[in-house]
Amino acid sequence: MATHLITGVAGFIGSSIARALLDRGEQVRGVDNLATGKRENIAEIAHSIDFREADLLDLEAMKLACRGVDWVFHQAAIPSVPKSVLDPLGSNQANVDGTVNLLIAARDAKVRRVMYAASSSAYGDTPTLPKHEQMTPNPISPYAVAKLASEHYMISFYRCYGLETVCLRYFNIFGPRQDPTSPYSGVLAKFITQMLRGEQPTIFGDGGQSRDFTYIDNAVSANLLAAQAPAAKVAGKVFNVATGTRADLNETFEILKKLTGYSGTVKHAPEREGDIKHSLADITLAREGFAYEPKVNFEEGLKRTVEWYRGEGKAAGA
Ligand code: UD1
Repeated sequence: MATHLITGVAGFIGSSIARALLDRGEQVRGVDNLATGKRENIAEIAHSIDFREADLLDLEAMKLACRGVDWVFHQAAIPSVPKSVLDPLGSNQANVDGTVNLLIAARDAKVRRVMYAASSSAYGDTPTLPKHEQMTPNPISPYAVAKLASEHYMISFYRCYGLETVCLRYFNIFGPRQDPTSPYSGVLAKFITQMLRGEQPTIFGDGGQSRDFTYIDNAVSANLLAAQAPAAKVAGKVFNVATGTRADLNETFEILKKLTGYSGTVKHAPEREGDIKHSLADITLAREGFAYEPKVNFEEGLKRTVEWYRGEGKAAGA
């Protein structure tokens, strides 16, 4: 049976990929240094996976983790724009040095393919919408630069060593288990939990900024499809993973009012440094490359996410 390694397995996206693989009866190994990942995310599957607490910066640990592995889903990262503005070195170490270590380990272990959690932030604030993969990247934040640098490493390892790598540029993934508690948390996780508690959310800027918010199940399915696609179609390539639609923060707030029952207003604060105004993906390449199709749209995704946080009591600040 094939073995799948997930880096960042205790994170929101990594743990979601793990559950999907287990549902298919696959064998899963996971590493996480628990810097941003949480044991509770893998609590109910802990007995079914080979979990190793390890840091990507530990090359020997990565070599051990890659031993006997067929597919790697590299989700581990410090996934925050503002945090990278405060600590560019830390961002670079986790997001670039860690990736290079993993690639060396995967190459030496003769892994069949590595799927990489790349980021839409690579596009930066280019005015062209939708963003397509042929556009020249224009990263703004250190986080975006690090994520783009790692894409180039992915492609380089395919070109130089024949290690099959696929870069999946995630556009604002959201859904159950996304951590709402850090000041760097994704906006939807924050807004939903705040509004469920009856607390006033804050919009940075005028709320006109828009995103191609992508429900987690879509990102998971992109990973599984990319792993199975013919190498000629995906290896050494970059793909947007999104929905091809966007919503701005003001309209999102209105939808969330209905879903959460929050009756208050929103407060405004200055625009965030390194922020981009609009983000929307062209998903043609992913459709052609591995038959990707967004299965859950924005509103349905919001509904499911609100229900999850409500049920988990996350809104109580757990
Ligand atoms: C960016 C990247 C994304 C990456 C993510 C990691 C883009 C398009 N996307 O997301 O690929 O995975 O970083 O962090 O660059 N906001 C508020 N109030 C809040 C929190 C956020 O108004 O309480 C605003 C932000 O200023 C921003 C928007 O909401 O304009 C989205 O922010 P966030 O969810 O943090 O993600 P991005 O920075 O877009």
